Amino acid sequence: MKKIAVFASGNGSNFQAILDQVMLGAVDAEIGFVFCDKLKAGVIERAKSANIPVFSFVQKDFENKVQFEEEILTHLRDHQIDFVILAGYMRLIGDTLLQAYENKIVNIHPSLLPAFPGKDAIGQAYRAGVKVTGVTVHYVDAGMDTGPIIAQQAVEVAYGDTEDMIAEKIHKVEHVLYPKVIQELVSK
Ligand code: GRF
Repeated sequence: MKKIAVFASGNGSNFQAILDQVMLGAVDAEIGFVFCDKLKAGVIERAKSANIPVFSFVQKDFENKVQFEEEILTHLRDHQIDFVILAGYMRLIGDTLLQAYENKIVNIHPSLLPAFPGKDAIGQAYRAGVKVTGVTVHYVDAGMDTGPIIAQQAVEVAYGDTEDMIAEKIHKVEHVLYPKVIQELVSK
């Protein structure tokens, strides 16, 4: 069975959705560990309550990004991780991890890329007044949300939708789409 590591920086609702599908057997993979680059984040508690190992350390405690990522890489190798799943991980992946895990790192982004990359994609879409936005799952490269697209799903913005309402629709789609794509990846 393939092993995945989930990297997250925040609430971890996508991690939770993946975990739920792993528990149900709909995602045929083992979650080796969760890595969080914040010392306090919702995802840490979620992982602990599921008895999944969780590592959290911050880049500023290392001399540079290379050393930070080398520490992460040690954990990936120790746990024999096959795929790295970014789920709300708010940091660009550097060469150290990209080279070690070429085409094995994926990300979910709350817009139809290449529209609205970077931070606050939902807010960007709301302010732009688009009638359709959505969710993208893509391979990770050195850019900001620029890697090859694996899957996309559109979300309609209805007249009068607030930013919070759009966010809720987007997250609902994410929680179904991401586990599905991960299942496809691990079963290849
Ligand atoms: C999601 O909207 C994801 O697309 C983006 O960050 C958010 C993470 O939410 N990359 P959560 O921490 O999984 O709840």
